[in-house]
Amino acid sequence: MSDRVKIGITINGAPHEGEAPARMLLVDYIRDVVGLKGTRYGCDTSNCGSCTIVMDGKSAKSCTFLAVQAHGRELTTIEGLAEGSELHPLQAAFQEAHALQCGFCTSGMVMSAHALLSQNSDPSPDEIREGIIGNLCRCTGYVPVIEAVQLAARRLDPKGGNP
Ligand code: FES
Ligand code: FES
Repeated sequence: MSDRVKIGITINGAPHEGEAPARMLLVDYIRDVVGLKGTRYGCDTSNCGSCTIVMDGKSAKSCTFLAVQAHGRELTTIEGLAEGSELHPLQAAFQEAHALQCGFCTSGMVMSAHALLSQNSDPSPDEIREGIIGNLCRCTGYVPVIEAVQLAARRLDPKGGNP
């Protein structure tokens, strides 16, 4: 008997139909079945946050879900942010504020920030720290990441009052 399960998800705005082994992790499904390699797999202990995506509007560590649990849900990965060759304001801000070095954590960091800004357009530095608390970075020291999120917030919501 096959242990493969049919799943239907919306990913980066497009419908996707497929099937996955019942025990396949969502991060593996996104990377190896859907082929979106921007979502990273950094640990297998749900610690690092490099696998973070947005699921139904909230940040989610895709290594903590089975692929079948995504059935019927709406997912956004890092590939869903840019408009063609134009970077999303968060991506541009990370670049401008030097908020990445090796880049391994960056897609997860950006997706956590994206979920945060969708719920709070003018977060304080402490709220940003809280928003990225599940994302580890061994390179930047986090300060430029906070600056990048503030920069993106100002551009996305110029009336927000963020200094
Ligand atoms: S791969 Fe590290 S938290 Fe998911
Ligand atoms: S930029 Fe290297 S781990 Fe964050």
